[in-house]
Amino acid sequence: MSREDKSSSKPETQRLFFALWPPAELSHALYQLTGNALRGGTGRRVVPENIHLTLAFLGSVDVSFRECAEQAAAEIRAASFTLALEQMGYWSKSGILWVGPNQAPQPLLHLVNDLNAGLAGCGYEAEQRPYDAHLALARKACLRQAIYSIEPRAWEINRFHLAQSHTHADGARYEILRSWPLNSPAA
Ligand code: 2AM
Repeated sequence: MSREDKSSSKPETQRLFFALWPPAELSHALYQLTGNALRGGTGRRVVPENIHLTLAFLGSVDVSFRECAEQAAAEIRAASFTLALEQMGYWSKSGILWVGPNQAPQPLLHLVNDLNAGLAGCGYEAEQRPYDAHLALARKACLRQAIYSIEPRAWEINRFHLAQSHTHADGARYEILRSWPLNSPAA
């Protein structure tokens, strides 16, 4: 294919997702925990700056979709909340070691539902599977245990983000593109 053909053929797309990002201190603590869990097996640790909780995965989208998604995000009126990270588990099928709440709290489910509803206006089709709140801590893991006991950690969440996934030879890197605040609960 000539250089001209290349530039005119495909519209530019970005691989995007909405997510929550833990503060650096929490990400580093989770990274340390991962090291302990992986002692009983193998796996590739997610670097602290990449640790996040996905709200909605948009996939590869064009500029007009991104604009519509940002508009939908700006219209969200959801409350800030605390997320308790209470369990660490291992999904053997996908090879993911993760951490998450025992049960997703209502404000998180509301936020995900509101986002999905807003994104539907952009033509987005939400996942059919029930939402499974988790932060991936290691990939391509091969472990013996399915559940690991951890000291629960409270994570105060007061904003959410639109992030881009950049694929590199040594794995994905995520870039936060924009952030929106969640409302403080009325006093
Ligand atoms: P994961 O951490 O469980 O792999 C960026 O890829 C983020 O979007 C990841 O957190 C990933 O979840 C999530 N995600 C959800 N659906 C995805 C899909 N179909 N392909 C890639 N990532 C997906």
